[in-house]
Amino acid sequence: MYRCAVYPGSFDPPTMGHLSLVERGLFLFDKIVVAVAKNSSKAPLFSVEERVEMLRESLAEYSPDQVEVDSFDGLLVDYAKQKNASALLRGLRATADFEYEFQMAMVNRHLESSIQSVFLMTDYRWLYISSTIVKEAASYRADVSAMVPPPVVERLKKKFAV
Ligand code: PNS
Repeated sequence: MYRCAVYPGSFDPPTMGHLSLVERGLFLFDKIVVAVAKNSSKAPLFSVEERVEMLRESLAEYSPDQVEVDSFDGLLVDYAKQKNASALLRGLRATADFEYEFQMAMVNRHLESSIQSVFLMTDYRWLYISSTIVKEAASYRADVSAMVPPPVVERLKKKFAV
């Protein structure tokens, strides 16, 4: 049976942790739709278009049948249904992530019980990485090249160049 998952997030910017999750998600799903949320309440550093572009460049090794990068507006479960996805994929780094993810999973299940939330533990190498911490380090011009893929390193350099 063909299985597609939507992997939603802000991806502001995408990190190695996000890429690792896509790679590992493909062991479970035939296709992963990486979906940048347009309506995130957070004030983003990168525009939705920039985030989609960075993800597409960083995930270029995968065929469009395996990985699609898109953006979405509105409710995640509505978008997932539109994409014929049976699951929502999210990463968990530490217990700190759990409460928020648990709450979101419960609301999403309440809204659409046919779509399952699936969580993968982040690879131990990327446990300490978050988009927020990467942005902070990059704003002080720290070398973040081990934490984010090359297309993101370039964009961060441009954003924080004097
Ligand atoms: O990377 P993030 O910022 O933790 O991702 C959060 C995201 C985009 C997955 C979440 O805010 C979301 O699903 N937004 C879409 C609106 C929605 O369906 N919210 C959940 C039920 S109210």
